[in-house]
Amino acid sequence: MGVYAPHVAEHVRITDVSPRDGLQNEAGVIPTVDKARLVGLLCAAGVDEVEVTSFVSAKWVPQLGDGAEVLGMLRAPLQREGAGERRVMLSALVPNERGMQGATEVCRARPGLIGKVSVFTAASETFARKNTNASIAETIERFRPVVDAAHAEGLVVRGYVSCVIACPFEGAIEPENVAAVSGMLRAIGVDELDLGDTIGAGTPGTVGAMLAAVERVWPRGAGLSFGAESLTLHLHDTFGRAAECVRAALDMGVRSFDGSVAGLGGCPYASTPGKRAPGNIDTRVLVETIHGAGYVTGVDLCLLEEAAEFAREIVTKSRAGA
Ligand code: HMG
Ligand code: MG
Repeated sequence: MGVYAPHVAEHVRITDVSPRDGLQNEAGVIPTVDKARLVGLLCAAGVDEVEVTSFVSAKWVPQLGDGAEVLGMLRAPLQREGAGERRVMLSALVPNERGMQGATEVCRARPGLIGKVSVFTAASETFARKNTNASIAETIERFRPVVDAAHAEGLVVRGYVSCVIACPFEGAIEPENVAAVSGMLRAIGVDELDLGDTIGAGTPGTVGAMLAAVERVWPRGAGLSFGAESLTLHLHDTFGRAAECVRAALDMGVRSFDGSVAGLGGCPYASTPGKRAPGNIDTRVLVETIHGAGYVTGVDLCLLEEAAEFAREIVTKSRAGA
């Protein structure tokens, strides 16, 4: 008689980036208290991580100029409701030392509140310049002291690469370029890589080719002891293909994805005057796709819907007043 070995479904990590990637794309500024409430609802829904805000120049992104205030309103430590001891990891984007100073002040005032900061560059020179006023090489130099300071505070550092499939200015991006930038991030000590299909151009084929190239410089499990979670896919859903790309990435071993509740967001480079481009993959679609493929997440879809309703409410109010 054969030995019965029960199949234990693998966990896939879900990071909701709507408070940052979603709200940065709204024309209006959402009230700070609503941003904090959205983060609380997402944590209660059981996502693993929430990207709360950014410490970037308010001249560039006025929508997120209240990052420290949003964080100041959050309860610490945040726990998943009804789900034991597991903490929800909160993170913020930092583009340079000045941004890291802002994050450090929060860490000192509220130890343990944020566990991660994210630096961001691109696989396209033009996008790097337009997004951060720097070449790719210059962004990497800017990140060196940020990585050291973050590690000194005990924070994990995530490194985003934007335009991993295509750039709104340069068109298709070679997988080797994505691998080269990923390698640069690894060389300066970034712990996790987050690959952004900024304009949602990916297909299962192009995402697969890109991942295969990146894996040569960032083997699964590289960085700290995060196993497969050291590599995340950040898909925008501009053309409605993100879910099929998630399935392809799962098949290739990716176990960490970013989503945005209610599909908040909408890349300004992919929108037209009359039509707003969809944002990141909706976290509900992401979770359903992952569950449908036989993996588990900690997300409660009913509680996620509560967060989605609130997200829709605040952006509808903001758009009506804009
Ligand atoms: P710059 O203008 O070259 O910077 O911008 P600077 O050093 O010359 O400073 C200009 C002013 O900004 C100065 O103030 C600085 O003090 C201030 P002034 O003297 O004029 O009063 N400043 C700051 N203020 C607050 N926080 C800071 C900061 N740094 C400088 N950290 C900079 C360079 C990088 C700052 C700017 O380009 C910037 O903030 N860019 C951020 C753009 C951004 O947030 N984009 C969206 C996030 S990336 C994304 O969405 C993609 C992603 O989702 C993945 C994907 O989908 O692909 C992650
Ligand atoms: Mg994005």
